[in-house]
Amino acid sequence: MGTFVTFEGADGTGKSTHIGLLAERLRAHGLEVLCLREPGGTAVGEALRALVLDPANAGLSDRAELLIYEAARAQLVDEVIAPALGRGAVVLCDRFADSTVAYQAYGRGLPRESVDAANAFATGGLVPDRTLLMVCGAPDEGLHRAAQVAAADRLELAGEGFHGRVAEGFGALAADEPIRVRVVDSSGSCEATAQAVAQAVADLFPWLGDGGAPAEGEAGAGPCASADAAPRPAAPAEGGAARG
Ligand code: TMP
Repeated sequence: MGTFVTFEGADGTGKSTHIGLLAERLRAHGLEVLCLREPGGTAVGEALRALVLDPANAGLSDRAELLIYEAARAQLVDEVIAPALGRGAVVLCDRFADSTVAYQAYGRGLPRESVDAANAFATGGLVPDRTLLMVCGAPDEGLHRAAQVAAADRLELAGEGFHGRVAEGFGALAADEPIRVRVVDSSGSCEATAQAVAQAVADLFPWLGDGGAPAEGEAGAGPCASADAAPRPAAPAEGGAARG
């Protein structure tokens, strides 16, 4: 079996940047690494993503929204994640079932047991080996940064109360499952965050060894140099089943 690591947190907390950086480090050790995003990562998933994030679909009901995220997830698990783990790959995923607990249970107020049941059905019981919860200051800070670099999508337009409840949901998940869910502070430099990310997965990849500090000559020349200089993207720059 391979290794399944998910990144969670509000929009604009650096998830996609640090998925890319971790993938580079793992690939340098010869591992097959897939970088995915939810919703998305398959043709069906990307179509569902466009549908669920489109502000034109303001009338989408909360239950319909839940089921669209779960449909995209089921397709991604069946088509990409399960086969990849089966052949021993590392799968890094930008959001997974924890986002549904945070956004649809805490944010929208759907019953937690319904959301848990839908998650279990869509994932077939697949649970990440590790989940990195990226936090970056006040709940809405990352959201405001995201809104500066891209037109807001339907979820970003959901309001401050909604995003406060989502942050509460992520916090509750980290408190409930401290072994699986590790909180990573992404408010510092890109290098500091990359090191915290590596430490949070060090038991899964012991040969990362140094806690992930950039190798000599790597700091300043790697992707962190531009990541620190530029505003963080609101969404992963790359789409499709595998990126990075
Ligand atoms: P993102 O890929 O830019 O983070 O956009 C995905 C949006 O969808 C983000 O606002 C979080 C939201 N979302 C949910 O509400 N529920 C889910 O299950 C997932 C995966 C994402």
